[in-house]
Amino acid sequence: MSRLEEEVRRRRTFAIISHPDAGKTTLTEKLLLYGGAIHLAGSVKARRSARHATSDWMKMEQERGISVTSSVLQFEYEGAQLNLLDTPGHADFSEDTYRTLIAADSAVMLLDNRKGVEERTRQLFEVCHRRRTPIFTFVNKCDRAGMEPLQLLDDVERDLGLKCFPITWPIVDGAHFLGVYHRELQQILLFEKGEDHGQRRAAVRVSSLDDAAVADAIGEGAWNRLHEEIELLELAGTPFSPEGFFSGEVSPTYFGSALTNFGVEPFLASFLKLAPTPRPRDSTIGPIQPEDEYFTAFVFKIQANMDPKHRDRIAFVRVCSGHFEAGMTVNHVRTGKSLRLAAPTQFLARERTLVEEAWPGDVVGIHDRGSLRIGDTLSSNGVLEFSGIPRFSPEHFARVRIGDPLRRKQLDTGLKQLSEEGAAQVFFSDSGAGPAPIVGAVGMLQFDVLLHRLESEYGVAAKLDFLPYKVARWVEGPAADIERLARGIGRSLVYDSKDRPLMLFESEWTLRTALEKEDAVRFHDIAP
Ligand code: G4P
Repeated sequence: MSRLEEEVRRRRTFAIISHPDAGKTTLTEKLLLYGGAIHLAGSVKARRSARHATSDWMKMEQERGISVTSSVLQFEYEGAQLNLLDTPGHADFSEDTYRTLIAADSAVMLLDNRKGVEERTRQLFEVCHRRRTPIFTFVNKCDRAGMEPLQLLDDVERDLGLKCFPITWPIVDGAHFLGVYHRELQQILLFEKGEDHGQRRAAVRVSSLDDAAVADAIGEGAWNRLHEEIELLELAGTPFSPEGFFSGEVSPTYFGSALTNFGVEPFLASFLKLAPTPRPRDSTIGPIQPEDEYFTAFVFKIQANMDPKHRDRIAFVRVCSGHFEAGMTVNHVRTGKSLRLAAPTQFLARERTLVEEAWPGDVVGIHDRGSLRIGDTLSSNGVLEFSGIPRFSPEHFARVRIGDPLRRKQLDTGLKQLSEEGAAQVFFSDSGAGPAPIVGAVGMLQFDVLLHRLESEYGVAAKLDFLPYKVARWVEGPAADIERLARGIGRSLVYDSKDRPLMLFESEWTLRTALEKEDAVRFHDIAP
């Protein structure tokens, strides 16, 4: 096997999708703990705040104490290299969160055992589902009572159309969580609450389902219930098929508790076995295999102003094929120019280090002076381009106002460049450049970043007047129908920078009524 094939085989690049507070930070810490990247869980949070004190990143980032960027965590487990793409979920949720999912080969859907599928889970799931990304499900917080597990998985299937195949199954006695049954290994793992609040690896006691000692250990009630549920799963549950998993239809499912570490290691071990290695990517010359000798990559995120002393930016690049070496010269396919990739950055447990080489599935940060855009292809074989990264429909809208009308030109330049870079989307009320542009964003933080950058990079002090719209859809159909539709209450027609019409709606409800009534118009939540 060549070195390239070996490195590809070792890699798993994935992201966690969840609603805020489901436990993503906690699970991330525990994965790093098992990966040996940190010895005491809890240090991700601690280091994050320590880093803010000395950070040279955007001032705003320090003031807010939150991370503007999502980073990439790299760790090893059992000889494999895992690249966890961090998807910001709280106030720093943005279009970048969606775009990051495009760079992942699989995703872990993390659910709170009391809440099941929540709004943000659904939004992120949709992005994965559309791309047929294989999805694992981890039901978290099982150390405390939650929904009936069968009910919860049923809800997932009804809500998302995703069939769950439990690899581990919770053992419950009344409201008490006793452990999990590992269906594949046919082993019982008993939960032992440690004294150290989940900081170290969880102790597990393992035995088989038929072990007489198991019934004693978990009690007759729990033992009977477990037997019934396992039988039900064997008879009526979804069978596991690798094809179903690889096309994102069937999700291997695990129960556990990130806080106490319980169930994390069995999950990680199973994840390693099932998760896809870097997958082929579609391009203008057909699918590019990771084992293809020539280097290819695409830009999925741009982080501006990491160092305010220099106006440079970091383009986050996902390697798709071939071998990346520091200092190599590649083709920047969109402009046809060649580009030297000097001083790339890699991320190990949130520390930035310089890399000498990288392989398919890896993410490197390339210093850039403004020539790279989201979706750009870099290649040592200049004839191909990856299909671009879609624009996702914004959820917040505001009209941009400037005090000094003489700065309008700078505003237009700034908005054009920042929207090309993916910082926010720009719309106009009339086809063509209307009077005051409207900006749209997936997360509110994007607006703060936008205003900050307009001022610091383009010298434009702008203010935003927020608009009442919450949902946007690109619309396609006869112009007369679109205009008639726009006259309805609680909606507005705007055009994006490519002059494609979008309809803004004040609520999901106004969108739904439009969807029910209209046959002639098609609605798209990503740019068609
Ligand atoms: P997030 O990144 O998805 O937003 O979630 P985060 O890990 O910050 O966890 C949200 C809250 O849920 C935290 O509590 C965390 O301790 C708790 N949590 C995470 N995993 C588990 C689990 O397996 N079991 C239980 N019972 N709780 C869990 P908090 O009180 O908001 O914060 P903290 O003071 O504990 O940090």
